[in-house]
Amino acid sequence: MTATLAQVRRCSVAVDLGAARTRVYTKAKGLIVDEPTAAAVNTRSGALLAVGAQAELMDGRTPGYIRVVRPVSGGTVVDIDIAQRLLRHLVGGRLTRAWRRWPTMRAAVCLPYGSEPLAQRAAVETLTGLGARRVELVETLVAAAVGAGLPVEQPEATMIVVAGAGTTQVAVLSLGSIVAAETVPVGGNAIDEAVVQHLRLHHELMLPQQAIRPLQMLLSGDGELTPAPQEVHGRDVVSGLARTVLVDTDQVRSAVNTPLTAILDAIGAVLRRCPPDLVADLGGSGIVLAGGSALIPGLEPMIRQATSMPVRVAEQPDVCPVLGLGAMIEGRIAPLELDPLAP
Ligand SMILES: Nc1ncnc2c1ncn2[C@@H]1O[C@H](COP(=O)(O)OP(=O)(O)OP(=O)(O)O)[C@@H](O)[C@H]1O
Ligand SMILES: [Mg+2]
Repeated sequence: MTATLAQVRRCSVAVDLGAARTRVYTKAKGLIVDEPTAAAVNTRSGALLAVGAQAELMDGRTPGYIRVVRPVSGGTVVDIDIAQRLLRHLVGGRLTRAWRRWPTMRAAVCLPYGSEPLAQRAAVETLTGLGARRVELVETLVAAAVGAGLPVEQPEATMIVVAGAGTTQVAVLSLGSIVAAETVPVGGNAIDEAVVQHLRLHHELMLPQQAIRPLQMLLSGDGELTPAPQEVHGRDVVSGLARTVLVDTDQVRSAVNTPLTAILDAIGAVLRRCPPDLVADLGGSGIVLAGGSALIPGLEPMIRQATSMPVRVAEQPDVCPVLGLGAMIEGRIAPLELDPLAP
């Protein structure tokens, strides 16, 4: 799927349409959009009421005729019309005007590894509908590796894990391309959901969305230093009344075990498919974590413990794929392809 660097360089806009957040980078202005991929729609008139952060605030607090929709799921644009309207509003019209004026305007979009042709078509249609004359598709994994400053073009192995909201992608890269990779439909959303389910099953407590982040702090302990148990407020499943329970590290750890195992399995599967020389390189360079979910406290130590490999979180892991794609459109990385040999 990955377009050549020469093709990507001709693009003036880089777009990362994620399940949780939409990011747009332009050659002229850098990162201009980093907002939730959400739109509030009036179901009676079809009118768009709010987009981005404003729409996300409305989620769960709307009357029946207003719906907060998320047009991207599992790395695929599932509602092209809403995705286009969302992008048009987030970018503010200026870009699409410029797009129309310049018949050669091209956009680069990053997509998860192994995206189906239909998912690729949906991404292309979303951007061409906004006026882009050509859309180049780039693997998110390659963009994230560039964004994380990994030496992707060197003949040495680098391993990157991009943990987003709906998907986690794992790859070993060498000489600018993917040697082995895997995408699993598990990300931050599944980890959050596992915590919510655990409290519902074991404490009969319904957890509000904002209570999940503080609970994840319990995972941050690295062996000896275990954080103190935390009080969480929620609603009793049976009585419907407000109730408070005490949750400790072990409970959150066992709750997130299932999604974490899926991520670890993907890492194992990718390593098994790699030639031994590259795996040996990885013993030294380790794994780099990117994607918004890399910010979940405890994810890094848990992966380090399970793989016995060095693990580090990329700088700005959440925006790392779009910054990498931005660096690619700006031509700030060494060419991945060699020029044809002179006769
Ligand atoms: N500071 C943080 N602490 C914990 N989790 C975080 C933090 N910031 C972001 N996340 C989690 O990261 C996820 C969003 O990551 P990201 O922005 O990479 O997703 P996305 O690119 O929209 O999704 P995808 O790539 O799966 O389509 C969410 O699940 C969110 O809960
Ligand atoms: Mg993403």
